[in-house]
Amino acid sequence: MKKINIGLLGLGQIGTGLYEILAAKKGLFACQLGVSFELKRIAEKYPERNKKVRPPKKIMTKDAFSVVRDPSIDVVVELIGGTTVARQLIKEALKNGKHVVTANKALLAEHGDEIFALAHRMKRWLCFEASVGGGIPCIKALREGLAANRIDSVHAIINGTTNYILTQMTAKGMSFAEALAGAQKQGYAEANPFLDVSGHDAAHKLAILARFAFGGKVKFKDIYCEGITEISSDDIAFAKEFGYTIKLLAIAKKSGSGMEARVQPTLLPNSHILASVNGSFNAILMRGDEVGDVLFYGRGAGPHPTASAVIADLVDIAKAGAEGPAEDRFMVRALGKTIPVKSIFSIQSRYYLRFNVIDRPSVLAGISKILGKHGISISDVMQRERSVGRVVPLILLTHATHEKDLRAAVREIDGLSCIKGKTQVIRIEEA
Ligand code: HSE
Repeated sequence: MKKINIGLLGLGQIGTGLYEILAAKKGLFACQLGVSFELKRIAEKYPERNKKVRPPKKIMTKDAFSVVRDPSIDVVVELIGGTTVARQLIKEALKNGKHVVTANKALLAEHGDEIFALAHRMKRWLCFEASVGGGIPCIKALREGLAANRIDSVHAIINGTTNYILTQMTAKGMSFAEALAGAQKQGYAEANPFLDVSGHDAAHKLAILARFAFGGKVKFKDIYCEGITEISSDDIAFAKEFGYTIKLLAIAKKSGSGMEARVQPTLLPNSHILASVNGSFNAILMRGDEVGDVLFYGRGAGPHPTASAVIADLVDIAKAGAEGPAEDRFMVRALGKTIPVKSIFSIQSRYYLRFNVIDRPSVLAGISKILGKHGISISDVMQRERSVGRVVPLILLTHATHEKDLRAAVREIDGLSCIKGKTQVIRIEEA
């Protein structure tokens, strides 16, 4: 029986989930996998706050550095989060010869070059299944199941909080603020929901996915990121009338010798498979050159789903043997040259535009003249309300056009006297 001594950093929500599963399934892991996972040390600053589990006092410490330096520990599981102390702890663990399992997407997105290179140099496993898509085994799929493929695109819903908010807005006509309050009440959104609603959490996950899907370094700061705070229930209702659903998508596509990579609210045709991914669920759609489209769907957050991914990594490490990777090609590829990310100004897309216009003659003619001048072709128009002389929403959908032309046209249109308030621009992604 293989025995793996684990040092756990952080007994928060996911740490607690891990503790519970390891305790409940000890026998199963032993008999089905031939592995005995021993939680030898746990570092937690505020153990008294944990109302669910009470590990033996003798394995608890407040000094996380003593865990990563402990010679009896084989694998360090980092579930503290953040990019400062966690970064030091992971580096220290690797330098001390430990394998590392982490759920820390922000750290891997922002400091992946340093952390992955160190793991490779030290010949230690650095496993991070839990960092993207919670319990969905999408990293393992890239490493193994899709090994025969060149990945050409990734379209993903990888933030459960924002998907829950948009689903509530769509189903119940709620405003963003109402739906956010509901998400906080349900325990999906943090008290400070900035990372989720700004799209940054999804961008962190996309940086990791793109690195391992396309094989190369990805500069996190080059990933364009728009959140959902400006999406109104009107936008959702108008999109519905055109046959679209609004989702926060993380998109990465091969483009020439580089790629497009962005997080954005997106109009998806209702027939698109991601349009029916609702509530707090996540889904990752990847296109491989051999396999075609593959969809991974499941719980992208929560203590037990995320701990499920952590344990999958622990099982891999146990099976691979304590000596560590001789040559990890998956990692080596992702440490290769930097994949340039195209500027958002040079992408092409279709667009949903909502203008707030004064309802008077020739307003539409004025707008379409400017769009025409910039080479932008309209595919659909809608004005539902009639209120002569008052402000009403006017919705246009465009054919595919360059973002820089679209932005120049909207800037010019926003200067017209008939336009009141901010124009809404949302990209459309086709099936
Ligand atoms: N807050 C994230 C979400 C989970 O809502 O999906 C952790 O990344």
